Amino acid sequence: MDQKPFTEPILQLDKVSFQYRNNYQSVDAVKEASADFYEGRMVAIIGKSGSGKSTLLSLMAGLALPTSGQVIYRGTPTDEVNLDKYRRENVTVVYQNFNLFPLMTCLENVCFPLELLGKSPKEAAVIARQEIAHVNLPETVCKRFPNMISGGEKQRVAIARALASGAKIILADEPTGNLDVANGEKIVDLLWHLAHDENYLVIVVTHDLGITKMADEVLQMTDGYLLPMDPESQLDRRSLAFF
Ligand SMILES: Nc1ncnc2c1ncn2[C@@H]1O[C@H](COP(=O)(O)OP(=O)(O)OP(=O)(O)O)[C@@H](O)[C@H]1O
Ligand SMILES: [Mg+2]
Repeated sequence: MDQKPFTEPILQLDKVSFQYRNNYQSVDAVKEASADFYEGRMVAIIGKSGSGKSTLLSLMAGLALPTSGQVIYRGTPTDEVNLDKYRRENVTVVYQNFNLFPLMTCLENVCFPLELLGKSPKEAAVIARQEIAHVNLPETVCKRFPNMISGGEKQRVAIARALASGAKIILADEPTGNLDVANGEKIVDLLWHLAHDENYLVIVVTHDLGITKMADEVLQMTDGYLLPMDPESQLDRRSLAFF
């Protein structure tokens, strides 16, 4: 059985549904998803293409509000909080394609959330350098533009930028999807340590067997429904390839 920590959840989903709609069509992308998420844990979400994983992540990120149900951050539903503040300070997203600003140096990329939080450029640069070291990147990366570093390094810069925001919730959508196995493993290792040594909540949408093996909990999305992965079920490379 999965042991839940003896603390309050930092993030909760309470019967969250989301429908994409226009005048002619609608798609029920997420259907009554409920779950509790705790700091200090790495949770993997798996599921077939189109099952609703990215939609669910964007609801948790405050990029959209549920059509019904609630996403609850430290006891307060996101429809009652200042969403801009929530997105800036409480939750951060790491993407498969890194989403770095191409015309900014790596240091400037990491400074960006700090300046949004009101730090002076000088203060931001000091903290950004610390975060770049935090993700085990050499100082030399700071002055390079994102297209002058490797994929694994780009994802580390993206994680450094996520950490600079000060948010305790890291949402990652296929963070190893564009990386080779060795670099992917290093990113998984970094995310795992952030959860277990530094008390972040890390939620990772993934097809990566390495992540599902290391995760404290695996949830599965099927046609918009979110269910715990049966701990008895044999999750192997073949079953993941099916997703
Ligand atoms: N902008 C959109 N407008 C309308 N429907 C959408 C939109 N984005 C996604 N959908 C639909 O919502 C459902 C869930 O999509 P979502 O992108 O969340 O799936 P996913 O599990 O992340 O898939 P993948 O593994 O391919 O990234 C799908 O039926 C999809 O076609
Ligand atoms: Mg997706």
